[in-house]
Amino acid sequence: MIYLDNAATSWPKPERVYAAADRVLREESGNPGRSGHALSLAAGRRIEETRLCLARLFGAARPERIVFTLNTTDALNLAIKGILRPGDHVITGSMEHNSVARPLEALRARGVEYTKIPLCAVNGADPDAVKAAIRKNTRLAVFGHVSNVSGTVNPVAEIGAICRERGIPLLVDAAQSAGSAPIDVERMNIDLLAFPGHKGLLGPQGTGGLYITEGLVLSPLREGGTGSRSEELVQPEGLPGRYESGTQNTAGIAALGEGARFIMEEGVEKTEGREARLASRLIGGLRDIPGITLYGPPEGPRRKGVVSITLAGIDPAQASLILDNAFGIAVRAGLHCAPDGHRTLGTLDRGGTLRISVGFFNTDEDIDRCVEAIGAIAP
Ligand code: ALA
Repeated sequence: MIYLDNAATSWPKPERVYAAADRVLREESGNPGRSGHALSLAAGRRIEETRLCLARLFGAARPERIVFTLNTTDALNLAIKGILRPGDHVITGSMEHNSVARPLEALRARGVEYTKIPLCAVNGADPDAVKAAIRKNTRLAVFGHVSNVSGTVNPVAEIGAICRERGIPLLVDAAQSAGSAPIDVERMNIDLLAFPGHKGLLGPQGTGGLYITEGLVLSPLREGGTGSRSEELVQPEGLPGRYESGTQNTAGIAALGEGARFIMEEGVEKTEGREARLASRLIGGLRDIPGITLYGPPEGPRRKGVVSITLAGIDPAQASLILDNAFGIAVRAGLHCAPDGHRTLGTLDRGGTLRISVGFFNTDEDIDRCVEAIGAIAP
């Protein structure tokens, strides 16, 4: 199989990711941070090693400011619902995933207002438009780093600079960029960073996290056992425990740590460069096929390796089925849980797009075979 659905989840994983999950389950599976015996201490160490590694990767000065979550959606919900209260206003973009759009819509029913800045599919959000949307009661700005539909990159550092001047926290959805693009929360003015473990970081599904800047206090999504201050009925304030109630996914988090270490050893810039080159090769090949419409930015620094197309006269879902069944090529068709992105591209009422997304382990040959297959099914 040629796997080109890395925006949904990366596959395969580095061998050491599989090995870490297996080793921890067999040898280090005590309950982390709860008991004093060797198995519990070993489990706790694995979790803290991953936290430290992620802090280094994202430029976070204090590792405990990174808390583990189930996935990016869980992290976004924690950030959004942990900050916003009735009467607050939030600024977001017109290409966000449902993991941002739906929590905001749910909060609208509870008295939170939002402004969706119209995004350009090539250039992303205009920082001046963000500035113009700020109100007295704006409490948060939420933007994706990279669109999961079109690969469009948002200028998050510039948006962050504007937000910092006004004391508004910036929450960045790094679902499509963590591990595939350099992220430095300090340099990029990011106050909250929601990221998945299973995409660019090459870890297992069911892992992810949220970076929370110093001084920002959220209300937790869930309360419960933290292994600390157990005599108190109220949730402890200290991080990471405040946001990590219940037993953690130790094997998954340890395996995520191996994925993150792998990426750091390879170099995030190098990974970004490889994926950009593959995306350029893909776009260059697709452009020559008649009947194809390409969405989002052209090849180059304004885009990442998520490429959406439509084929004249063929439904995206049908095209994806043919690619899978006849050519062994895995891609994703439809709305990609981001109807706002398709509204912006004009593909909402046409069954969305056929999305081809490159990852760490793809090769030039994968791309060439995919272009050839699409050329064969194009009308
Ligand atoms: N949000 C993931 C995607 O874009 C699942 O496919």
